Amino acid sequence: MCGIVGYIGKNNALPILMDGLKRLEYRGYDSAGVAVKTDQGVFAVKAVGKIVELEKKITPLTPPLSGGSNLGIAHTRWATHGAPSEVNAHPHCDCQRKIWLAHNGIIENYQELKALLIKKGHKFVSETDTEVVAHLLEDLYDGNLTNTLIKALRLLKGAYGLVIFHAAEPTKLLAAKCGSPLVIGLTEDGTIVASDVSAIIRYTKQVIYLDDNEVAEISGHDFKIYNLQSETVAKQAKTIDWDIEASEKAGFPHFMLKEIFDQPNSLANSLRGRIILSDGKVKLGGLDIVAEKVRAIEKLVIAACGTARHAGLIGEYMIEEYAGLSTEVDYASEFRYRQPVLDKKTALLVISQSGETADTLAAVQEAKGKGLLTLGIVNVVGSSIARATDAGVYNHIGPEISVASTKAFTSQAAILALLTVMLGRQRQMSLVMGERICRELLALPEKMREILKTSEQIKKIAEKYSKFAHFAYLGRKYNQPLAFEGALKLKEISYLHAEGFASGEMKHGPIAMIDGNFPVVMIAPQDSVYEKNYSNMQELKARGAKIIAITTAGNEKIKEAADDVIYIPKTLEMLTPILAAMPLQLFAYHLAALSGRDVDKPRNLAKSVTVE
Ligand code: M6R
Repeated sequence: MCGIVGYIGKNNALPILMDGLKRLEYRGYDSAGVAVKTDQGVFAVKAVGKIVELEKKITPLTPPLSGGSNLGIAHTRWATHGAPSEVNAHPHCDCQRKIWLAHNGIIENYQELKALLIKKGHKFVSETDTEVVAHLLEDLYDGNLTNTLIKALRLLKGAYGLVIFHAAEPTKLLAAKCGSPLVIGLTEDGTIVASDVSAIIRYTKQVIYLDDNEVAEISGHDFKIYNLQSETVAKQAKTIDWDIEASEKAGFPHFMLKEIFDQPNSLANSLRGRIILSDGKVKLGGLDIVAEKVRAIEKLVIAACGTARHAGLIGEYMIEEYAGLSTEVDYASEFRYRQPVLDKKTALLVISQSGETADTLAAVQEAKGKGLLTLGIVNVVGSSIARATDAGVYNHIGPEISVASTKAFTSQAAILALLTVMLGRQRQMSLVMGERICRELLALPEKMREILKTSEQIKKIAEKYSKFAHFAYLGRKYNQPLAFEGALKLKEISYLHAEGFASGEMKHGPIAMIDGNFPVVMIAPQDSVYEKNYSNMQELKARGAKIIAITTAGNEKIKEAADDVIYIPKTLEMLTPILAAMPLQLFAYHLAALSGRDVDKPRNLAKSVTVE
């Protein structure tokens, strides 16, 4: 997830672009850049780090900027392809430095296109997928940037929000959308295009939301919208009723809720371009260089902390059941103290959203010291763990701002499912099984949208239970790690006592605590262990427990044992935790928000734990 902004109009573009970048900084902040058309040509500048670093490099009162500019684009980056560096920062341009563009999304077929364009003599300077679009436009340019863009877009695969200008057509700013958001703000004096309304709302509340496969051709305050068949599309402006603060959160009261609701998109981004359905295979580009070593390993050790470790525990079940590879999960903070028995046929896989968690990094160093292959599932490109591991897979979910991890968790579990298919297909998994898992993975975003519709129902359940001080979370098999995750979510943002247990463990001690004041959240989809979970629920009911059950849509019978029921759509058993996580996140969120907690920044916690 990156932030893009473009302006064309009567006012000076630069201050509007810089202000827009600051408002979009929450979407990504590893590097930034701006390009404006001036009387003396295009002025472009880029910097690594936050927007303030870019600002330091701009002197608005000296030429060429002193003459002002009525056209420009800017970008704040969240790296996906290529490390955070000046050369990889946007805007990118063609060989002649005339066509400039900023991009949010991932161009899936950039390698094929790049190879083709290099053969034709184009010179690439960055490692990004984005630069290919600038050279493609240069290659196809027919004197009209709008027509050329429509032709180029027909050749692109993947997701994009693009803002583009050509120095030879300075009365035109173009925007194009497919998969990544873009909104156009209409003011008296000009037009602003941005990734979201937070960059626009200071100037206007009149906006037009671009839909997928639409191109906007903007000149001052006139605009035309085309589809990819070059037909014009009529669009109505909408009036935003949010204030500036709410706009960064897309109207949500907290980043956590926004991130929970972002999951259908973030999960789709994690899967994008990685599934070859017809072959029942996955393509994890970051693991290409170690594919043969991965084929040879006989054991996998997963090390991670907190939520990332819970995802790892789900991965353990997936990999052992479907890939037949012995897997164990460690607390990263314990990995080097317990003297694990490791040999060269073992690989270490670490999972970390931030890529900076000190304990996880220490586990990587320990494993490297022992000569092990080290792999990572990391969200932040270029982070310490991404650099320290031999190879890895990025989540591609954009920044996670709320301390409580939500969209990273579902993405981590989904990537572990992809890894399961990769490991499985290298071993004994059939094409049919590989294809089945992949197909079910691709269906998850839509199913997540269904779950989000239950948010208000979950809020009412949270209200009902808001006076209780203790909660138990139970799950079995794939959903046992989810019991830990559900409890962690509740405790970290509500400060209530919550504990996760394997359902079968209750009768070995914890059930002694249970009475009418200790509600139980039971994760019980209709899977291979449902009957056992149902018996556990009855045992708890007999002890006066109040039960909130999460189960598969259509399961009416569970109402005989549960006080409250939240339904999730059916999916493959190994993928149920990805869906069941969402009601748990929503329950924790609503309960904490109702109690007036500082949901996004809970006390005593930090987003990135860089001390051991
Ligand atoms: O950045 P990491 O994924 O390495 O962080 C690991 C944990 O600190 C993190 O998941 C933590 O448990 C979350 N706050 C839980 O919501």
